[in-house]
Amino acid sequence: MKVTCTGHAGLYIETEAGSILCDPWRGPSYFASWFVFPDNSEVDFGAFEPEFLYVSHLHRDHFDPKVLGRCVPKTATVLLPDFPTDDLRNELTELGFRSFVQTTNGEPLELDGLRIMISAMTSPADGPLGDSALAVDDGSTRFLNQNDARPRELEPITAFGPYDGHSLQFSGAIWWPVVYDLAPATKSALGVRKRENGMARALRFVESVGARYVFPNSGPPAFLDDDLFAYNDVANSADNPFPDQTVFLDYLANHGHANGRLLIPGSIAELTPVGECTVTHALGDDEVLRIFSDKQPYLEAYATRQRPLIASERASWPRYDGDLTEALAKWWDPLLALADRIGPGVGVPVLLEIGDEKVVIDFGAREVRPFRGEECRYRFAMAHELVEALVANHEIDWVNSLFLSLRFRAARRGQYNEFIYTFFKCLAPERLSYAEGWYAEQEEPDDLVRIGNYLVQRRCPHLKADLARFGVVDDDGVLQCGMHGWRFDLATGRCLTSEAHHIVAIPVDEAATATNP
Ligand code: FES
Repeated sequence: MKVTCTGHAGLYIETEAGSILCDPWRGPSYFASWFVFPDNSEVDFGAFEPEFLYVSHLHRDHFDPKVLGRCVPKTATVLLPDFPTDDLRNELTELGFRSFVQTTNGEPLELDGLRIMISAMTSPADGPLGDSALAVDDGSTRFLNQNDARPRELEPITAFGPYDGHSLQFSGAIWWPVVYDLAPATKSALGVRKRENGMARALRFVESVGARYVFPNSGPPAFLDDDLFAYNDVANSADNPFPDQTVFLDYLANHGHANGRLLIPGSIAELTPVGECTVTHALGDDEVLRIFSDKQPYLEAYATRQRPLIASERASWPRYDGDLTEALAKWWDPLLALADRIGPGVGVPVLLEIGDEKVVIDFGAREVRPFRGEECRYRFAMAHELVEALVANHEIDWVNSLFLSLRFRAARRGQYNEFIYTFFKCLAPERLSYAEGWYAEQEEPDDLVRIGNYLVQRRCPHLKADLARFGVVDDDGVLQCGMHGWRFDLATGRCLTSEAHHIVAIPVDEAATATNP
């Protein structure tokens, strides 16, 4: 098995039984804040001829529409993770891909001699409502491409092994604590913890999977804009949450694992069935090491090369000349009305300082309105032009655009609140409804509601819309979910719109007999 590093989470896996291109990314992404580290400009994505394409999830350092659209042959068959929404399939269809293999979470699949398995994570906290890991077996060698996924169920993954190679994230892809207004000593202490936790978590995965060789990947990004350059870990600082590959390799070695191997863009790892691994780099070994030992000049030169690109990206951000408060209220008020768990989960006003404009998302009152000078426990400040671009593009996932860009400041009193970020990644009714349903199922998995003459499971089997709100039954006993129009025959529970989606429906009189025998 030959594994070529294309940068960040990008891998080109070649086997006797077929080849898979994974997460090809050139960037820049997130408002031109993230670049591949080290530079992957020399990687020629057009030279690969993959039979299969795997995009682990829709975060923009994994899903790069420009590379996918221009460089990847549309004859490649897409290996689709088992995600709750069709967003990934739709985006790839839009780019011209026509052949898809829909996988089932944690179930191995045979593809003409190549055995694969995709583990899909689907909680609101997993990526943009979905993240995944790919296991590959060519009959003699096995590889786990975990990238930045954090599988909670490791049993199917370990059962697929044992693995010869394992690639995974170890470095931060987060804005905490670096964008927060905190006392320097506090921020430094939190940074230490964040850096430690990221590497300790990766170590736990490394030890649980037990692969022969480990390849740190999926980060850190390079921050090349002058506004962000200070976030790079140029001095191997204990409080910087963005350690590089060599730091993690040392960390692994210090914990008794000498099997880590460095891959940078263009490096090739050859894994053999007898347990050998040979790594060759596109650059000389000294040059490779200098990238990490002389990182400051390396990044400064990289930034100089990319300055025109950053300027042209900035110039391309669309403007919006309407009233932003009104635009956000018109967009988000209907979402807040659906936010039965997220609303109370936040429960307090959240302040957005957009340039000089101050807007409040009042999660208690479920409305967006101008700031009235009240105390706000959570505060975000960002440039007007960024929010204009988000509004003009109707960007439904601000985590996958604004927050990961690190182009904002934040402050909070009290704990991290997951519901706030879930809201920002679900700025469309379908997504919000899914997240609401997911939270609801954690609380009330067996919740039934009366609809017509039936007690029906509360959450739509499609994307978990609340059927007490969206379900309507016609005279033939067919329930239609108003979210996307899926239909269910209540007498049999059969879904009339799609296969393999059954609904729990009990006639009210039967339910009464069961409870009053
Ligand atoms: S959530 Fe899509 S049809 Fe019900």
